Amino acid sequence: MPGILLGDVFPDFEADTTIGRIKFHDFLGNSWGILFSHPKDFTPVCTTELACAASLSDSFAKRGVKMIALSVDSVEDHHGWSKDIMDFNSQASGPLPFPIIADHKRELATKLGMLDPDEIDGDGIPLTARCVFVVGPDKRLKLSILYPATTGRNFDELLRVIDSLQLTAQKKVATPVDWKPGDKVMVLPNISDADAAVLFPQGVTTKEVPSGKKYMRYTQL
Ligand code: BEZ
Repeated sequence: MPGILLGDVFPDFEADTTIGRIKFHDFLGNSWGILFSHPKDFTPVCTTELACAASLSDSFAKRGVKMIALSVDSVEDHHGWSKDIMDFNSQASGPLPFPIIADHKRELATKLGMLDPDEIDGDGIPLTARCVFVVGPDKRLKLSILYPATTGRNFDELLRVIDSLQLTAQKKVATPVDWKPGDKVMVLPNISDADAAVLFPQGVTTKEVPSGKKYMRYTQL
């Protein structure tokens, strides 16, 4: 389980990476950030994931989100593997557009609860799971998702949740199932109808439900 909870200030760790030693909060500056771990360099699913992440790096940048990956491999391995990732990636060229943290002592992985006891290396030591942490400009954790090594992630979905996080950081709304930018959003349950009328002058529509309760309130931003 992740060792950091939603709303916590994300640890300002120092780490060796493919762009040198970083201090996490300085790396983020005033940006949003996404930190995603993978089990091992030079493995197939991880290669497909990081190639996809690289091809979407402009989309993350457009949203003001700095990307950084992590595994328990060395900086040297990360550099070697990055060439494979970019070669696999038919939609991008040049160097990997984000750094990878080398957590070979597993200090960060242990601190952040990223190790998967079911996934071990040749020495019987746990590898990192596929964790995702989205950190806001206030350096607080906004979202975490934890996948096992055997399930690759969907980076389009990560962009979608970032769109939701960035919208709901600004407006008193929540985004329903499968929401995407431009779709209707839902008025937060703790907002009274009177306040909703002021907050959303464009109008609020309420879907009737068998209970008769008026909680399915939509608005178009
Ligand atoms: C992979 O990236 O293919 C992988 C890595 C560790 C365990 C299982 C799959």
